[in-house]
Amino acid sequence: MGPALSKHPRGAALGASCLLALEFIAAVQAQSPAYGQCGGIGWTGATTCVSGWTCIYSNPYYSQCLQGSASSSTTTTTKATTTPSTTTKTTTTSSTSITTTSAGATSSSWPGNGSGSNFNNPVLWNDLADLEIIRVNDTFYYSASTMAFSPGAPVLRSYDLVNWEYIGHSVPTLDWSSKYNLANGERAYVQGIWASLFGYRKSTSTYYWGGCIEFGKTYMYTATNPAGPWSKRSTINTCYYDAGLLVDDDDTMYVAYGNTNISVARLSSDGLSQAETRVVWNSPSSIGTVEGSRFYKRNGYYYIFITHPANQQWILKASSPWGPYVERQILSNLSPPVSGAGVPHQGALISTAAGQWYYMAFIDSYPGGRMPVLAPVTWGSDGYPTLSLVNNAWGASYPYPLTKHPLKSPYGTDSFSGTSLSPEWEWNHNPDTSKFSVNNGLTLSTATVTTDLYAARNTLTHRILGPISIGTIVLNYGSMADGDRAGFSMFRDQSAWIGIAKTGTTTRISFVTGINLNQSGWTTSSTGSENAGATITGTKVWLRIYADIRPGGTRTATFSYSTDGNTFTNLGSGLVLNNAWQFFIGYRFGIFNYATKALGGSVKVDSFTMNLA
Ligand SMILES: *[C@@H]1O[C@H](CO)[C@@H](O)[C@H](O)[C@H]1NC(C)=O
Ligand SMILES: *[C@@H]1O[C@H](CO)[C@@H](O)[C@H](O)[C@H]1NC(C)=O
Ligand SMILES: *[C@@H]1O[C@H](CO)[C@@H](O)[C@H](O)[C@H]1NC(C)=O
Ligand SMILES: *[C@@H]1O[C@H](CO)[C@@H](O)[C@H](O)[C@H]1NC(C)=O
Repeated sequence: MGPALSKHPRGAALGASCLLALEFIAAVQAQSPAYGQCGGIGWTGATTCVSGWTCIYSNPYYSQCLQGSASSSTTTTTKATTTPSTTTKTTTTSSTSITTTSAGATSSSWPGNGSGSNFNNPVLWNDLADLEIIRVNDTFYYSASTMAFSPGAPVLRSYDLVNWEYIGHSVPTLDWSSKYNLANGERAYVQGIWASLFGYRKSTSTYYWGGCIEFGKTYMYTATNPAGPWSKRSTINTCYYDAGLLVDDDDTMYVAYGNTNISVARLSSDGLSQAETRVVWNSPSSIGTVEGSRFYKRNGYYYIFITHPANQQWILKASSPWGPYVERQILSNLSPPVSGAGVPHQGALISTAAGQWYYMAFIDSYPGGRMPVLAPVTWGSDGYPTLSLVNNAWGASYPYPLTKHPLKSPYGTDSFSGTSLSPEWEWNHNPDTSKFSVNNGLTLSTATVTTDLYAARNTLTHRILGPISIGTIVLNYGSMADGDRAGFSMFRDQSAWIGIAKTGTTTRISFVTGINLNQSGWTTSSTGSENAGATITGTKVWLRIYADIRPGGTRTATFSYSTDGNTFTNLGSGLVLNNAWQFFIGYRFGIFNYATKALGGSVKVDSFTMNLA
């Protein structure tokens, strides 16, 4: 599997050529149904979709019929919008600014927290895809994939499966290749950390994380505290693509992995190398592509929990880790608990200490990314699990699994106190650590001379809390150098920012949009241009982004600034948020500072505030 996989570079280049090939042979084949597979390596079925649906490339193994036309996922980006907020009542038109009187940043309760004894889905409206959840005694830990963001693979903690807090990262730095440094013309967008294994070995009190990078090797990391420090311990020459870890009752460690043909590897006694691996199950053509393996044991049976992306969940059951496995469908085309989102799939099965079971899936919810939804599971006397539905759909609300245990709020203000970043933050690629510092504020010195935000090192990103958040940073720009650009962005493959542009001794508040990556290879197709701007004086500015990341909402961001923290002025036409999934990671707030002429300038960020609109 490793060699075969590594032959296929990931990225949209292959996708585009697949689509062309598919178009070519489409005429002679029947059409694939809604959500049906329509392409991928080894696929011999229909390659076009029924009317109103389009065959969309997902990865080398999978293209799927999704609603709409192909062009809708690649069109851009900016147009005049209105802001539906009740707190920032502004209307925007291209290139004009309007003074408003509202601070716009209100506090309200996180709705996932629920009221009374029920919680609401999603439990946390954050982009936390490809999740695995483990329980150690009464504590749950959550791992997610992060592609080229650094540090990678966040760890979250919960005591009730609903309230979660970030505590660390399993991958301190992405050091598998220099391209993860975003330097010397190299970049690694959409590569890096995909669905990975995460587990705990009781006998040695050790947490394990392992990920296959770019269909090549698998890197194993361990920690004795899930909050860290984590360290890289070994390299395994097999790609554990979409892997799940099982520590068996006799302490043997197994990894289930693969695409369509599922394999099980037995690890060496220290869990750091491979002892043997075998293909244990081949997906029949009636099921087709599967991936996203998780590996569990219950009542003496082995279960591999797999997804048919992105609309079905399956489980394989056997009395030996090596099989033979018998499959059963868990869900298919189930309605999600969020309007406009995709079918809940992939994710993890979880047991509580009291022996109750839950399934945390995620839903494709672009432009915001993929976020977790929770539902109870019961086991039948035949040893297969059944999902508890509400009106034949994934429930928007269920009773709390455990006593409600609120944690650090997912919104609020971070004043960058102390000397390190809190674990909610991730850089775009590895940062240049000599060019930033945290000390009661965040100082960002320019780290790259470029005109391209996607080539600039040290953009610091934060997940946006859905459904609609207002992010605000307080930026001190008195130490910027001629040519520097610093500010606050909606960061994804189609980005925009509001910030300060310094030219000579003059400073301008500027809204720049049209900053785009090409899905074919993730090169920069456009570095953007100023859509609106004005001269500004002083040394301090509040920059604000209103972001509606609901998949069925307006999908817009609007940008404003203030020189006193009270009166905000809307700037520019806003950004229609791209809801194509190919970049995988959803929109984030990004704080940046780069030079277009020479290094030497810096900015200081006093605080970042994110509140629900
Ligand atoms: C969750 O609800 C509890 C009360 O039940 C409250 O104390 C807590 O602040 C809430 N947390 C958030 C993030 O809203
Ligand atoms: C889990 O609970 C057992 C029994 O109380 C205890 O010995 C062990 O240290 C706990 N493990 C962790 C990681 O807290
Ligand atoms: C799965 O295994 C079958 C039988 O060995 C093989 O023909 C097929 O190409 C494999 N598919 C993938 C996607 O590796
Ligand atoms: C994207 O890249 C492809 C392949 O290099 C190229 O053919 C195409 O013109 C590019 N599109 C844009 C908008 O730059």
